[in-house]
Amino acid sequence: MQKTFAIRFGTILGPHGLYLIGVFRKRGPNEPPLDKGLIPWLGHGIGFQKNPVEFLAKMRKKHGDIFTVLVGGIYIHFMMDPHTYGTIIKESKDKLDFDAFASTIVYNVFGFQPSEAHHKVVQEVSKKYLRNKNLADLNQVMMENLKAVMLQNVGSGEGERPWRQDGVLNFSFKAMFQAAFLTLFGTDPCNGGDAKGTSKDHQALQCGEWFEDFQKFDNYLPSLIIGVLDSATKKETERLRNFFWDVLSVEKVLKKDNISSWVAEQDQQMAEIGMTEKMRTQFLFLLFWASQSNTGPATFWVFVHLLKHPEAMKAVKEEVDQILKETDQEVKPGSPLIQVSFDTIKTPLLDSAIQESLRLKVCPFLFRSIMEDLDLKMADGREYVLRKGDQLILFPYLSLQMDPEIYPDPQTFKHDRFVNPDGTKKEFYKNGEKLKYYNMPFGAGPSTCPGRFFAVSEMKLFVMLMVTYFDMELVNKEEEIPPADPSRYGIGTTHPARDIQFKYRLRI
Ligand code: HEM
Repeated sequence: MQKTFAIRFGTILGPHGLYLIGVFRKRGPNEPPLDKGLIPWLGHGIGFQKNPVEFLAKMRKKHGDIFTVLVGGIYIHFMMDPHTYGTIIKESKDKLDFDAFASTIVYNVFGFQPSEAHHKVVQEVSKKYLRNKNLADLNQVMMENLKAVMLQNVGSGEGERPWRQDGVLNFSFKAMFQAAFLTLFGTDPCNGGDAKGTSKDHQALQCGEWFEDFQKFDNYLPSLIIGVLDSATKKETERLRNFFWDVLSVEKVLKKDNISSWVAEQDQQMAEIGMTEKMRTQFLFLLFWASQSNTGPATFWVFVHLLKHPEAMKAVKEEVDQILKETDQEVKPGSPLIQVSFDTIKTPLLDSAIQESLRLKVCPFLFRSIMEDLDLKMADGREYVLRKGDQLILFPYLSLQMDPEIYPDPQTFKHDRFVNPDGTKKEFYKNGEKLKYYNMPFGAGPSTCPGRFFAVSEMKLFVMLMVTYFDMELVNKEEEIPPADPSRYGIGTTHPARDIQFKYRLRI
């Protein structure tokens, strides 16, 4: 198993992983401290894979804020000084390429090899449809879909509302999955006398069934990335991939009503640049996964922190109630369901609670492939040489988000950590200097997540609907929030190691 892991990990890390260079390489002049571990070629592969956070914390303690480790035949430089992030993020793609590594992972998982042209289409179309006025329109659609999903069959009507029970992860991930699917990929066309609402309800139910398969596929992701799969798992992941290629085939998706311009225009541009229909379907699955896999678990973390911290839940609810009051909206039986527009309302406390949850639980690796020997000047003046062919990784989770100097008591959820009492945003400092990048769940620079504004709006809409329409509490108020599953470190939003139960009932 260890050998398999090493070979596969070396393979995904690029052609250099195939050379037995690990045995001979020595630290060169001006290069960062080099730690090859004790096992030739494999280096620190096992420790790194087991728990990257613990492993990198240990390495930082030993070597400082820049070091190089050997992992499965490849040399990875870790930059842990957040003041130097700007220099790396702004470096040209000819020197530090952010696509090369991601493309290999995408190929392993989705069977589709993206090129620079694809990346450009994603970034440009997302800039057009996931920001400003078009984002406001998309938010309206998302809000309607969330209402349809969250407020159906929850026992409205006369008399006492029944309590229901569910896992916080299952409830929040599933609701976001169903609503975002309908929002981005559209609804089945209404046939004959079928009312639109009926079609949407039916679609929401169907999405609920797909959710289980999506979760299964997503749970295999860490293994798919490093290519360690036994034959039964390989068969199962292929089945799931084929299933989603069918559900999301270009032929089926283009027949839908209300498909978002974000999806339709990207597909159209992919066709124009000569992608085959099969590749376009594979690309749609990639978009689908990117739009779903981080947001559901992130919503879980926001929601579970609010449930566990009643003072935070109360503060957020008061903020939402105030908005409803200012916009003359009442929440009572028979009154129209609420409407909000983020163009006109401000929610500094909810924004801060979301930032805080992302700080605590989202931890992507940000990759750069070193395309030519690079002179790197750190913010404090130290100079290093990084070798062509190596990889450079930023891990803001450890070097920023969990730094007690930047965030005192960093493991604790403080819902108002990112906001001043007057509602303005807080600034953050390290070594007495203001940080330009202080929380990076979405990455930064040219490879930043293009869906970040939509993702935050989705989470806000979810919380606003929950606090407005439901009474809710953890089933066991003493139960601790489950820890993050370490297998997701480096991939994006972590998942909880297990779900935690809550109960809820409709308030109106
Ligand atoms: C909390 C939710 C989310 C988190 C934490 C997240 C995080 C990330 C991160 C870390 C990256 C890679 C950045 C880098 O390499 O520098 C990324 C890429 C991406 N994200 Fe997100 N994301 C979220 C939600 C979304 C949503 C809702 C969408 C779409 C609607 C989306 C679409 C994408 C796409 C398409 C890429 C690849 C971009 C490219 O190749 O140029 N993400 N995301």
